Amino acid sequence: MTAGATFTFIHPGHPLYAGEMELRFRVLREPLGYTRDDVAFPFEADSLHLVAHQEEGVLGCVLFNPEDAHGGRLFQMAVASHLQGQGLGARLVRTLEAELVRRGFTHVHLHAREPAVPFYERLGYAVFGAPYTEVGVPHRNMRKTLGA
Ligand SMILES: CC(C)(COP(=O)(O)OP(=O)(O)OC[C@H]1O[C@@H](n2cnc3c(N)ncnc32)[C@H](O)[C@@H]1OP(=O)(O)O)[C@@H](O)C(=O)NCCC(=O)NCCS
Repeated sequence: MTAGATFTFIHPGHPLYAGEMELRFRVLREPLGYTRDDVAFPFEADSLHLVAHQEEGVLGCVLFNPEDAHGGRLFQMAVASHLQGQGLGARLVRTLEAELVRRGFTHVHLHAREPAVPFYERLGYAVFGAPYTEVGVPHRNMRKTLGA
């Protein structure tokens, strides 16, 4: 179902942005009891937004907020619930990383929900620091050096 997906970097205002926001709400916020008003981040406009889409529908997304010239934070990683486990999340991360390398970034860190830690480990990310709670669920900090 995801083999024909197209990967596009968009910005807020792009026709696919509403679909990205709806996916983020459905996958990342609604299950935790949050509202649509809780989806946007303060650094939304400064971030890279990568969406996987097909026939006008957004199937998955991942965002990256540059924090300095060398690196930043990967966030809002989501795949539509009925398409999870088919490799789309990994393709999104690899596509984002290739663009980050092209732009000269070398470091990525992220706040991983505990159940997603093995997903990021498969992609070369390593846990660091102590566990903590964010949006009401257990998290771990993870990081990766690109090209290492
Ligand atoms: C986490 C998420 C983005 C992963 O995307 P996905 O498309 O389902 O994952 P993929 O099919 O690309 O998986 C890639 C690899 O990671 C593994 N993997 C994925 N989720 C895993 C999990 N929870 N535990 C163990 N392994 C996992 C897969 O088995 C696969 O392994 P392989 O390389 O041997 O085939 C997706 O499941 C999701 O949106 N979950 C809900 C939201 C969420 O938790 N987001 C992350 C917030 S930090």
